[in-house]
Amino acid sequence: MYKIVEKQQLSDIITKLVIEAPLIAKKRKAGNFVIIRVDENGERIPITIADSDPQKGTVTIIVQAVGKTTKLLCSLNKGDYVLDFVGPLGEPTPIHNYGTVVCIGGGVGTAEVYPIAKALKEAGNNVIGIVGARTKNLIILEDEMRAICNELYITTDDGSYGRKGFVSDQLQDLINSGIKIDAVYAIGPIPMMKVCANVTRPYKIKTYVSLNPIMVDGTGMCGGCRVTVGGKMKFACVDGPEFDAHEVDFDELIMRNRTYVDLEKISDELYEKHVCKLEGVK
Ligand SMILES: Cc1cc2nc3c(=O)[nH]c(=O)nc-3n(C[C@H](O)[C@H](O)[C@H](O)COP(=O)(O)OP(=O)(O)OC[C@H]3O[C@@H](n4cnc5c(N)ncnc54)[C@H](O)[C@@H]3O)c2cc1C
Ligand code: FES
Repeated sequence: MYKIVEKQQLSDIITKLVIEAPLIAKKRKAGNFVIIRVDENGERIPITIADSDPQKGTVTIIVQAVGKTTKLLCSLNKGDYVLDFVGPLGEPTPIHNYGTVVCIGGGVGTAEVYPIAKALKEAGNNVIGIVGARTKNLIILEDEMRAICNELYITTDDGSYGRKGFVSDQLQDLINSGIKIDAVYAIGPIPMMKVCANVTRPYKIKTYVSLNPIMVDGTGMCGGCRVTVGGKMKFACVDGPEFDAHEVDFDELIMRNRTYVDLEKISDELYEKHVCKLEGVK
């Protein structure tokens, strides 16, 4: 059992949880994730390690409530426990001194790009951050990103904060401005990562994305997280989750992630009904 020692609401649907897991806190590197099972009836879900404190033995995760399990996880409070918290999993991000690196986070993807941006900054890179979301109250980790980035740009789809438009528009502007960009890390919704890959492709700028296929065991056994990269089959949990963006078959990933949409909807509706019933009892 793993104790939640801190909870912070970052937006209506995004929650930060700090969880006691000393061994993971000691070993984890930028790019690693954990597989969580909230209780004995729960499914396993992968969540990126956003940060850790090896001294306190804690791991920070940032979760967007999109369906049954993430809603259940976000409903837990300080002092509650999760049953399983397995990690660190996945290949850590290779951290080099590239020169100038643009780190892009879309929505909750900012929680995933933040540890990478931090490690790249510590390795001596000039880090330019772009943080985007649909609207102002979904922008997360702005202060944290500002503290580690040499420059930070904010975009919102509706123009409620920062530049109106997409993170990829800001990326295109940076390229057009003529600055030399040595690498790009783009993490967020699949369409966002696909567009960022298309923006950098003509300029041959090395671009990395972190893929989010459905994962079950996280150890290369079940095949659930199969993706195609450079025409070859890869398992995102052990070969990734980061891959060369110019090689990824994004359309296949989108299609495979839709496999269980009907069941996910039913599961979410049942969970919402259950919560409503409990609230009625209070
Ligand atoms: C390596 C990795 C790191 C991730 N890091 C984060 C993170 O830091 N913060 C965060 O909020 N989310 C993260 N995700 C996404 C998160 O795992 C899904 O949002 C979560 O599993 C959804 O489960 P649900 O029951 O709440 O929603 P559901 O309604 O069951 O599913 C909603 C959508 O989430 C995806 N999904 C469902 N089940 C899984 C699963 N077992 N594995 C992966 N995707 C699934 C599918 O695309 C699905 O359509 C990450 C995913 C991966 C692969
Ligand atoms: S999650 Fe099972 S093989 Fe990757």
